Amino acid sequence: MEQYAINGGIPLVGEVEIGGAKNAALAILAASVMTDETVLVENMPDVRDTNILLQAMQSIGVHVERLDRHTVKINASSIQTMVIEDDFIKKIRASYYLLGALLGKYKKAAVALPGGCNIGSRPIDQHIKGFKALGANVQIAHGLISTEAEVLKGNHIYLDVASVGATINILMAAAMAEGQTIIENAAKEPHVVDLANFLNSMGANIKGAGTDVIRVRGVQKLHKTEYTIIPDQIEAGTFMFAAAATKGDVTVKSVIPKHLESITAKLIEMGCEVKESDDAVRVVASKPLKNTHVKTTYYPGFPTDMQPQITVTLGLSRGTSIVTESIFENRFRYVDELTRMGASIKVEGNTAIIDGVSKYTGASVTAPDLRAGAALVIAAMAAEGMSVVDDIHYIQRGYEDFDVKLRSLGAQIEKVDSERQLQKFRLKIG
Ligand code: UD1
Repeated sequence: MEQYAINGGIPLVGEVEIGGAKNAALAILAASVMTDETVLVENMPDVRDTNILLQAMQSIGVHVERLDRHTVKINASSIQTMVIEDDFIKKIRASYYLLGALLGKYKKAAVALPGGCNIGSRPIDQHIKGFKALGANVQIAHGLISTEAEVLKGNHIYLDVASVGATINILMAAAMAEGQTIIENAAKEPHVVDLANFLNSMGANIKGAGTDVIRVRGVQKLHKTEYTIIPDQIEAGTFMFAAAATKGDVTVKSVIPKHLESITAKLIEMGCEVKESDDAVRVVASKPLKNTHVKTTYYPGFPTDMQPQITVTLGLSRGTSIVTESIFENRFRYVDELTRMGASIKVEGNTAIIDGVSKYTGASVTAPDLRAGAALVIAAMAAEGMSVVDDIHYIQRGYEDFDVKLRSLGAQIEKVDSERQLQKFRLKIG
């Protein structure tokens, strides 16, 4: 089992290149099956989640050609089935994007229901409500969610929660429905906009993505396109908080600074210097960190996917901070691990009350999920002494070459998968 061995206490310094957004990539890869013509997707992150989705697409007959690590050519003209039930599809929730994509194109789809998740219950009622509003039947049986329609007809859909997943699934189905669909209380996250731009580049007619109301005029056919995925807001934010927690000086490059505004604002409140340029953001943490309060919410608010990273950093900031998680109810599971490194954090319901400590100390910890795993790596890099982070397969779901990028910033981190390698790391750090 792979682990990260980390020797902490070294400020991260330097520049790091941010990859394509995982969450945008998942939607865009799924949507690329909506045309029979060849689609070229660039800036695709080479992470476990996108690779699993590509495998699932291949399992139904989609032709996938990897031109290089981050460029993929997709041709879906020879899809043989609209039923996807391979084991690997259950490993990623975003597999359900193939429902909206296949329903839009073929008016029929069935996908193995995504399994449980470590950050709380993840209902899909809004996805189902959307498909039904477009005239589709939806059934859940034997672990499969199936949907089918004679014709898909545009409709007015009001989402009870501004769900990213539901907005994306409905957008895809509506793009090839008859007439106009209006999605109200739509999610505004950058990856929703990226998907809409991608579909529009294939000939769809979608207006208003990035606002609460998205209008879609259905088209009969979508065509080929070449498209570059936006930079990953969360990967960038993770490195920004890693800079802060280690008292470093890091420039994240190839980013869209506007997508990082809520993250930048919090870092400034905490006493960091943040300098923006056209496509880069530099975080300098030369002064002691200060406390602040934060509540996760929908874009443009502070993202829930950055909650563990800011909590870990506030754990090292002077004073008492309060972090409120308003999107997923079970997202503080990593706090017990952090306590073992010396953090003083009390969780009450969806709130964490953090009393800043002057330092963390290295420990063996286990990643409970993707973002919390990355946050524990940040804690370990800030901590005095050596840490081992277990279950890094979660981290690999969404971070490409995390250890390589961190090493390039001066971190002492290595991927190990045996006691011998761990021993070697111990000897190396002395
Ligand atoms: C997406 C992201 C995930 C991020 C989350 C919130 C992807 C692949 N994943 O997840 O990284 O943490 O957005 O920004 O893009 N809800 C319902 N009913 C539904 C759907 C959602 O009640 O049918 C609720 C959820 O329980 C949650 C909230 O809506 O409380 C937001 O969830 P949603 O935006 O759907 O998250 P995902 O799309 O699953």
